[in-house]
Amino acid sequence: MSGFVRLWPEQASHYAAQVDWLVIGFTGMMAMFVVPVFVFMWVFIFRYRRGHAAERDHRPSGSLKVELTWMVLPFIGALVLFVYSARLFFEARVPPADALEIQVTAKQWMWKFQHTGGQREINTLHVPAERPVKLTMISEDVIHSLFFPSLRVKQDVLPGRYTEMWFQAERPGTYDVYCAEYCGTDHAAMTARLEVLSPSDYQRWLEGADEGRSLAAQGEALFRQFGCSGCHGAASVTRAPPLEGLYGRSVALADGSRVVADDAYLRDSILLPQKQVVAGYAPVMPTYANVMDEEAVARLVAYLRSLADPRPEPATGPSEDNR
Ligand code: CUA
Repeated sequence: MSGFVRLWPEQASHYAAQVDWLVIGFTGMMAMFVVPVFVFMWVFIFRYRRGHAAERDHRPSGSLKVELTWMVLPFIGALVLFVYSARLFFEARVPPADALEIQVTAKQWMWKFQHTGGQREINTLHVPAERPVKLTMISEDVIHSLFFPSLRVKQDVLPGRYTEMWFQAERPGTYDVYCAEYCGTDHAAMTARLEVLSPSDYQRWLEGADEGRSLAAQGEALFRQFGCSGCHGAASVTRAPPLEGLYGRSVALADGSRVVADDAYLRDSILLPQKQVVAGYAPVMPTYANVMDEEAVARLVAYLRSLADPRPEPATGPSEDNR
């Protein structure tokens, strides 16, 4: 469609194409309602204009067939759109388990990305084509929103809480990335570039951008630097909950409730340690809110995930809601 007036950004994923079909379908259905209204309006304006000899007899008449048609057809159309869009919505909300994980930190006014291998970049994001990518995002300050127009995905990035988004780009190329939530003076300049690479190019990029240490290894260094091992280490005197095999487990809290040790729980435990105290432990952990930024927390969380039990607990019963 290049060279022609482009109605919307190019499609870089199957999902984008489906979203466009939804928009086209919705617009088409609205047109089916709007066009006849305007057509008949002009017909009647013309036919019943003043001084025109038209039949003006106005006895009530009705047709069950016509009434059923205008009720049943739009009903079916609306249901089709509902099912199609609900399916898309669920697809967009549930990242595949094998997705590549990337940590995103937003701040006024830049986008920072951290890869599992330890690679870090600012305002540019390299991802492989034909592979699901899951973003775990958080903001250092105000609410931002990460928007990939060519992928038709957008998600708010909040301070104090992880949000998630995933996509699978199909074709290598360079695509625009925007902040889609007004976040201050340079909001409009808070843009980035998405570089979708072929799997082999991506491998080459990973090696070129290698920091020498994986994200988890960087987290382990922080773990020592901030003295976490002093209490959480196996040989420590102060009793603190052991962290080996913690990730993904269900944890009993002092208030009697249980939470699943996911990214959000681990983050909160580092920055807001009094929020969810583990049962049987004194609330003695200091907060790291003022000494560690979100990027460092993401590295620590990556390290704690790497300590997860390689054999995850079988899921028991309905999933526990931790919010
Ligand atoms: Cu960040 Cu707008």
